[in-house]
Amino acid sequence: MTISGKAKLAGVMGWPIGHSRSPRLHGYWLERYGIDGAYVPLAVPPDRIEQAIRALPALGFRGCNVTVPHKETAYRTVDRLDATARRMGAVNTIVVGEDGALEGRNTDGFGFIENLKSGAPGWKASDGPALVIGAGGAARAVVASLLDEGAPRVWLVNRTRARADELAADIGNSDGVGAIETADWVSRETLLEGVALVVNTTTQGMAGQPPLELDLRALPGSAVVTDIVYTPLMTPLLTAAQARGNRVVDGVGMLLHQARPGFAAWFGREPEVTEGLKAAVLQG
Ligand code: ATR
Repeated sequence: MTISGKAKLAGVMGWPIGHSRSPRLHGYWLERYGIDGAYVPLAVPPDRIEQAIRALPALGFRGCNVTVPHKETAYRTVDRLDATARRMGAVNTIVVGEDGALEGRNTDGFGFIENLKSGAPGWKASDGPALVIGAGGAARAVVASLLDEGAPRVWLVNRTRARADELAADIGNSDGVGAIETADWVSRETLLEGVALVVNTTTQGMAGQPPLELDLRALPGSAVVTDIVYTPLMTPLLTAAQARGNRVVDGVGMLLHQARPGFAAWFGREPEVTEGLKAAVLQG
């Protein structure tokens, strides 16, 4: 579609940015809803990210997404933070307010929960304890959102235990209900007994990486298994879980759903996550 002089503008800042699927995602919605707007990839090196974010209002941008490695710098640069971004210490969505101020949000946890709700209808965080594997940036959003949604307990295991302890100390201090408990890497299979949800947030199982080592024998048949990895869509973990009858939810939906609040704020329309969108984003 043609971009007019009045087009609403947004984009995604990252370094590198070439592999980001966000331009395709928002581009699909813009086309689909016939919106006069553009969403562009913005390759911004770390030493210019603050300057680039500050320039958004001057350029007439409605806002932008922020991805690796800029989420923490964005957190420190914006003028206002919503409660979730403050808790995460990271911003993935910036909205330029009416007054020109930069509002930082974090929608990763929202995307994670919405993906589970739509991929496993009837699933609720309060169904039982969750086991979260990995303690990187993605794990932070996953753990905080599960606690906010009412998970009675979140078990957190990471190859490097100290990172899990650090995450638990950061996230657990706020008002969320439930409790985070960390455990040693070797105990992850024992912990499966009695959990209602298993989440892989590590890079294991991604194309080119070895599968996550996790024998699912002790996992209850009613538990839901999900993976943050979405290349491939069906990771070895999800394949194994499905084969034994557990419900599985693939990871691309988290990417699709986390984009909704930003799109609505910048372009003025609540977008829908559909199979067509998923196919377009996964293409190529
Ligand atoms: P991000 O912040 O983007 O989530 P990250 O910080 O690199 O990415 O986190 C990757 C996660 O995968 C970490 O939990 C990491 O564990 P460590 O903290 O011990 O590094 C986990 N991970 C990476 N390789 C792994 C492996 N071979 N076995 C188990 N976990 C692994």
